[in-house]
Amino acid sequence: MKDRILIIDDEEGIRTQLCWALAGEYEVLQADAPGRALEIVRTQGPQLVLLDIALSTSQAEPDGLELLATFLEIDPLMKIVMVTGHDERANALQAIAKGAYDFYAKPIDLEEIKIIIKRALHIQRLERENQRLSEEIERRHKFQEIIGTSPNMDQIYRTIEKVAPTDATVLVVGESGTGKELAALAIHHLSTRAAKPFVTINCGAIPPNLLESELFGHERGAFTDAHIQRIGKFETSEGGTIFLDEIGELPLQLQVKILRFLQEREIERVGGREPILVDARVIAATNKSLLDEVRHKTFREDLYYRLSVITLQLPPLRERGQDILLLARAFLNRFSAEYNKSKLTFSASSEKALMNYGWPGNVRELENKIRRAVILTLGNKINPYDLGLEAHDTDKRLTLQEIREKTERKHVQEALKRHNWNITNAAKDLGVSRTTLYDIMEKYQIKKEQD
Ligand SMILES: Nc1ncnc2c1ncn2[C@@H]1O[C@H](COP(=O)(O)OP(=O)(O)OP(=O)(O)O)[C@@H](O)[C@H]1O
Ligand SMILES: [Mg+2]
Repeated sequence: MKDRILIIDDEEGIRTQLCWALAGEYEVLQADAPGRALEIVRTQGPQLVLLDIALSTSQAEPDGLELLATFLEIDPLMKIVMVTGHDERANALQAIAKGAYDFYAKPIDLEEIKIIIKRALHIQRLERENQRLSEEIERRHKFQEIIGTSPNMDQIYRTIEKVAPTDATVLVVGESGTGKELAALAIHHLSTRAAKPFVTINCGAIPPNLLESELFGHERGAFTDAHIQRIGKFETSEGGTIFLDEIGELPLQLQVKILRFLQEREIERVGGREPILVDARVIAATNKSLLDEVRHKTFREDLYYRLSVITLQLPPLRERGQDILLLARAFLNRFSAEYNKSKLTFSASSEKALMNYGWPGNVRELENKIRRAVILTLGNKINPYDLGLEAHDTDKRLTLQEIREKTERKHVQEALKRHNWNITNAAKDLGVSRTTLYDIMEKYQIKKEQD
């Protein structure tokens, strides 16, 4: 796209001359009076303006210097070159002090002014790029706890920024350890509810018979042990966000109640008679495929659709490229400080091993492996052995057969772990039948207990 230049001059001859000279390289617009000039700046956003400082204007109209100020308010990076008469040097300097890029004294030498324009636009491009980068740094800063600069994590940041300020329900999905809770927290922190509570409840960790009271509270005497009235997590999160972790584990009869809350914004305490209005935003997370659960009738379809309007899909660590090392180094620094070990670094073979490993347990697994390495290491360099990873040394000669078996075993084990040892899903993922998968497991003696 061509850069847009606006020429503001009341002398038609000058406008025509400049137009003619610049039209090849730029999109040239022109105005002979302040009103028209302002309109063009507002609607067309030229990158550069050539502004006649002595523009003849009526009393009511802004003069050249006033126009300059207004333009810069509209676009602070706009490049404005003042065109002056030979006796207007003082005015020209004043314009520069007010933010004009440069001035140029008539009569106009077209070749000279072209060079000035080119340079101005070049500087402007650098400034815009610089602005974009600092905005990006600032944006990253908002997600300070979330580490990662890979394109798919950038996508996540962008989505979080977009949905956070709305009150929309968000479903966060991703393999275990991908940072679902961290993402939920980021949404809360970037929302208007940031100053209010962020309440987490892990639906899979609480016995089903206690879960209802945990979520919704109970009245005194609601059941045998209910000696006192108790407020549930929903009410605790009033004004803030409730994070329903592992929502896939929620029993069906409680799913109805969550659905009701999403529709009516009302809950009922166990043993209570009155519905209670609660203002809470719901963020739910799961590492299961809720659609599968829907198919198996263990998850209500209507609730699924309510929850999944906005779905945040966190990528597995193995798809985040260099983020692996970025995270590894961040954890290394964190744990070095925590365990008072100074100057720890990764050996080259460790970095290679980190990059080559499949990370079925994602960021959590990486975090754990680094913690363990920091505790175990004796020297200053973390080696693959400290990490519990095999060195990728090429000097150990393996036969093709051995390599094949090793890789096969590793992939199968990882797939099973990824799918929580669900054979059907793991087999599907690996592109083999269940029988074949059983055979392979048998062949390599892969058992869940080994994990
Ligand atoms: N991008 C990231 N940057 C820094 N730390 C991360 C990142 N992602 C995850 N973590 C860390 O990894 C650990 C696991 O993250 P989190 O608990 O959010 O994952 P999860 O997806 O909820 O896992 P699970 O499914 O097992 O509950 C936490 O200690 C978290 O701080
Ligand atoms: Mg979690």
